[in-house]
Amino acid sequence: MELLTRYRDALAQEMRSLLEGPPSPLLTMCRYHLGLSSSDGEPLEGPAGKMLRPALCLALCDALGGDVPTCLPAALSLELLHRTSLVLDDVQDHSTERNDRPTVWGVWGVEHALNAGLVLSSHARLALHGMLDRGASPELVLRLHRVLERTAMDPCHGQYLDLAYRSGWLSLPGYREMARLKTGALLGASCRVAALTAGRDDLESPALLFGEALGVAFQYRDDILGAWGDEAILGKAPDDLEEGRRTLPVALAVEASPTLPGDIAELRRLVDTPAIRERAEAEAGHAAEEALALLKGLCLSGAWESAFQGLIGFVLTRNV
Ligand code: IPE
Ligand code: IPE
Ligand code: MG
Ligand code: MG
Repeated sequence: MELLTRYRDALAQEMRSLLEGPPSPLLTMCRYHLGLSSSDGEPLEGPAGKMLRPALCLALCDALGGDVPTCLPAALSLELLHRTSLVLDDVQDHSTERNDRPTVWGVWGVEHALNAGLVLSSHARLALHGMLDRGASPELVLRLHRVLERTAMDPCHGQYLDLAYRSGWLSLPGYREMARLKTGALLGASCRVAALTAGRDDLESPALLFGEALGVAFQYRDDILGAWGDEAILGKAPDDLEEGRRTLPVALAVEASPTLPGDIAELRRLVDTPAIRERAEAEAGHAAEEALALLKGLCLSGAWESAFQGLIGFVLTRNV
C-alpha cells in the first residue's frame, strides 16, 4: 500500500531523533516497543508496525495542500499516542506477542511496562513541539495540542468498555461505540490534525468524521484477524476467542443468541462459525462503505481520492 510507505522514512528519522538521548532502561523499553532497538538496546532498522495513523495524517495534509515537513511532528505525536496505548493494551489483554516480538510487559514485567508507557506518552506530547522548529505558529500548535490531548483520553474510555464488557453483556451498538473510542478517535484526530495544519479549518469536521469511520472499519477488520488471522503474517497470536475478548464476532454471536456463555469453549463454539465470520465481514464492509461515502465530503482531486479509496480497500482486506 503505497500511501503507507510514502512518508515512512521521514517519520522513522523523526522518531529516531526524538528518542535519542542518554541511554536509560525505560528509554530502551520504548525504543524496543517501537522497533528501534533490541531488548538489549542494540539498534535495529525499525520502526515496527504499519504507521497507519501518521501516514493518514501526512497524506491528507498533502492532499489538502499543506506542508508535509511542518506536519511531520504532529504525525509522529499521533503514532506515539497509538503505540503508548498498545503497551497498556498488551498488559490488559495479557498478550505476549506484538509485531513479531515479545511484548514490553512480556520482557520486563507489568510494573516496568507501566512506567515505559508513561515515558512514551510524554514523548508523544513532546513530539508535537517539533512543529515550532518548522515554522508553525504557536497558536496552531496549541490548538493541535488540545485536539491530541482530548483524543488521547478516548482510547482509555474504549479500553474501559472493552474490559467492562468482559464481565457483562455486549450489544452491537455498544460494540460499535467501543470501536469508535478505541480506534476511530485516533484516526479521526489524524485527519483533523491534517486539515488544521493545511489551514483547511472548513474541513475539520468532515475530516474527523472520515477518519473515525475508517478507524471503526479498521477495528472491525482487526477483530476478524484476532479470531481468524494468520499468526505468521499478523505478528501476534489470533487468540481473541481463546482469551474471551469481547470483539465484533462475539457481539454478532450475542445478537443471534443473547445468553452469553461464561465458559470459553462454549463461547468459542458459538462464535467460531462460517455464519458469524460472514456477518463480521459484512459489517466491516458496511463500515468501509461509510468511510468511502465520507471521503467524498473532503472534495479531493481525482488522484488523491483514488489513493484514499485504495487505503480504505487496504483497511478492509488487510491481513497484517
Ligand atoms: C493495532 O493497531 C491496534 C488497534 C487499534 C486495532 P495497528 O494494527 O495499527 O498496529 P501497528 O502499529 O501497525 O502494529
Ligand atoms: C487495541 O485493541 C486498541 C487500543 C490499544 C486502544 P486490540 O486489543 O483489539 O488490538 P490488538 O489486536 O491487541 O492489536
Ligand atoms: Mg490487544
Ligand atoms: Mg485490547
